[in-house]
Amino acid sequence: MRIIRLPDSWAARIAAGEVIERPASVVKELVENSLDAGARQISVWIEGGGVSLIRVSDDGEGIAGDDLPLAAERHATSKIKDESDLWQIATLGFRGEALPSIGAVARLEITSRVRDAESGYRIAIDAGSAGGTIGAGCSIGTTVEVRELFFNIPARRKFLKSPGTELSHICDVVNHAALAHPEVHFRLYNQTSLLSDYPAGVGPRDRLAQVFGSDIAGGMAPFSWTSGELKIDGFLSKAPSSFPTTRYLTTHVNRRFVRDRVLTHAILHGYETLLMKGRYPAVVLELRMPYKDIDVNVHPAKHEVRFRRQQEIHEAVSAAVKEGLRLEAKAPAPSFLDGIHRAPGVSMAVGDAAESYAVQTLGAGSALTPAEIFRFESAPPLVGGGFFSSLEVLGQLLGCYLICASPRGLAVIDQHAAHERVAFERMRREVGVGEAERQNLLIPQVIELPAAEAVLLDQRLDLLEQVGFTVEPFGGAGEYVIRSAPALFPAGDYREAIRRMIAEIAEIGASGELDANVEERLATIACHSVIRAHRKLERDEILALLRDLDRIDFATQCPHGRPVLIELSEGQLEAMFRRT
Ligand SMILES: Nc1ncnc2c1ncn2[C@@H]1O[C@H](COP(=O)(O)OP(=O)(O)O)[C@@H](O)[C@H]1O
Ligand SMILES: [Mg+2]
Repeated sequence: MRIIRLPDSWAARIAAGEVIERPASVVKELVENSLDAGARQISVWIEGGGVSLIRVSDDGEGIAGDDLPLAAERHATSKIKDESDLWQIATLGFRGEALPSIGAVARLEITSRVRDAESGYRIAIDAGSAGGTIGAGCSIGTTVEVRELFFNIPARRKFLKSPGTELSHICDVVNHAALAHPEVHFRLYNQTSLLSDYPAGVGPRDRLAQVFGSDIAGGMAPFSWTSGELKIDGFLSKAPSSFPTTRYLTTHVNRRFVRDRVLTHAILHGYETLLMKGRYPAVVLELRMPYKDIDVNVHPAKHEVRFRRQQEIHEAVSAAVKEGLRLEAKAPAPSFLDGIHRAPGVSMAVGDAAESYAVQTLGAGSALTPAEIFRFESAPPLVGGGFFSSLEVLGQLLGCYLICASPRGLAVIDQHAAHERVAFERMRREVGVGEAERQNLLIPQVIELPAAEAVLLDQRLDLLEQVGFTVEPFGGAGEYVIRSAPALFPAGDYREAIRRMIAEIAEIGASGELDANVEERLATIACHSVIRAHRKLERDEILALLRDLDRIDFATQCPHGRPVLIELSEGQLEAMFRRT
C-alpha cells in the first residue's frame, strides 16, 4: 500500500467534521465570533432545524472588505498576533477554523461593514470555493448566512436528528452564551417566529430568569467565592429543588461555556447529601481565572478546557457551592412548597423573624382536626437563637410529623429526617477530623472484593484507619476483615460503608490529583451509609432536636436529600382558603 496525499477539499471536509458536528455547532461558532467582535445585539434565524438556513447577524466591529477572503481561509485569524498569545487566549475563537470549516460543508455568505466604511462587502463560499468580494449595502456589523448544511456530506446529514431536536440544541447554545453575556441582547427566530428574546441591560439575576424562566430562577440563590486569583460566582438551586437531568447545570470559564468533568464533580460534591439519588441541581457557575492558567486548545470545538491547577479549582468550586448552600440553609426561604410565589413582605431574615413572631394564622388546631394531632398539654414558649427554636410545636401527627407554628405560617417537620440530619452532622464532624474513638467489633465482618478494588484498598488502608475503620487482609485473595468501626456509629453491618468508600477512592484515583480532604469525604460517605431512621421521639427530645437543628448547617434536608421542613406561608394559606 502506498501513501497518497489527500486532495485539499477532502482534507478540508475531514477537518470540518471535528468542528461542525451539527447545526448547533455552526450557531455556536458564529455567536462566538459575534461576541469576540464586541457585539451588543446578536440575532439568530433558523429554518428547517438549521439545515436549510442559519443566519447570525451582529452589530460588532465588522470585517474589512480586504479581509473578507481571508476570513474564510483555514488558519486565518485576527485574534492571535504573536506566539505568546497562544498561551493566554482571551477570545472565544483563536483557531481560525470555524468559517472555513462551515464553508467546506455548506453554502456560506458573509456580509460585513466596519465602522468607518461607507458601505459593506459580501463574499460567497460554496463548498470551499470562494467567489469574489462584491459591494453590499448593509449596516455596521456582520451577517453570516449558512444554507444547505452538509449538502456535500450525505453521511453526516443522515446522523442529524429531527429539526425539533436540532433546534433544541441550538436553543441551548444561545442560552449558554446568553447566561455568560447579560450585556448582550440575544434574539432567536425559528422560521418567522421569535423563540427567545433576551434584552440586554439587565443584571445576571434577570438574565437567569429570561433563560431558565422565573420558576426555576426563583428557586436559585446567588453565591460567590474568591480564592487567590480564582473568582467564582453565579446562582445555585436551593435544596430541595432539583431536576432529573444535568440540563440546568451550566459552567463557564472566563465567560466560555464548557463541559468539564472536574467542575461538574466539584459542584455535585458541594451538594453532597442534599440531593436525592438521580437528582441534579440547577447551577450557573462562572469561574474567572488568569488566561495563562487554562488551556483552551484541547478540543476542536472548544467544549473542554484543561486547568493547570485542577485540584485547587476543584476545592474552590466545591467550597463555593457548599458555602452558598450553607448560607441559604441558615435562612430557610419562607416557602418550600412554592419558592416562586413568595408573598410580598414575608422574605424576612431569620434574625428578625424571631422578634416579629406572632401566631395569628394558626390558632390552636385551626386548620387541622384535633383528632389528627397529638397535643402537648401546654405548648411551651420557645426562646433562643435560630429559626427552628422559634417554632411553636403544636403537635405531632402520625407519629412522624411535627406540626408547628412558624413566624411565617405553618411549618411541618419530618422528625425522622431531622433526627437523621442532626446525627449525621455530628458524626461527620467527629469522624472527619480523624480522632473518632473506635469500638472493636465483637464479631468481625468479612468482606470480599474484586481484584481491582482489592488492589486499591491495599494501598489505602491508612485512609480507612484515619476515619476509624481498622480493616486487614484476611486469608483468601480479596478477603478483608473489618475489626473496628467508629464508636459513634450504631451497631450494624459496615460492609456497605466500606464498599462505598472504596468506590470513592477509585473515583479519586481516576480523576488524578483530587486528593485533598479525602478523609472528610470518606467520613461523609461512611456516615451516610450507616445513618438510619429513628424511633418515635419524646417531647424533650423534640425540643432538643429543634435546638440542634439550629446549630447545624443544612438543617433543611436529611442526609439522603429528603426535606426536613415544609413551610406554608401565611400568603399561601390565605390563597388556599381563597382569602386573597
Ligand atoms: N461576526 C464577526 N465579526 C467580526 N469579525 C469576524 C466575525 N466573524 C469572523 N470574523 C473574523 O474572521 C476571522 C475568522 O473567524 P473564525 O474562522 O471563526 O476564526 P477565529 O474565530 O478562530 O479567529 C476572525 O478572526 C475574525 O477576524
Ligand atoms: Mg471563531
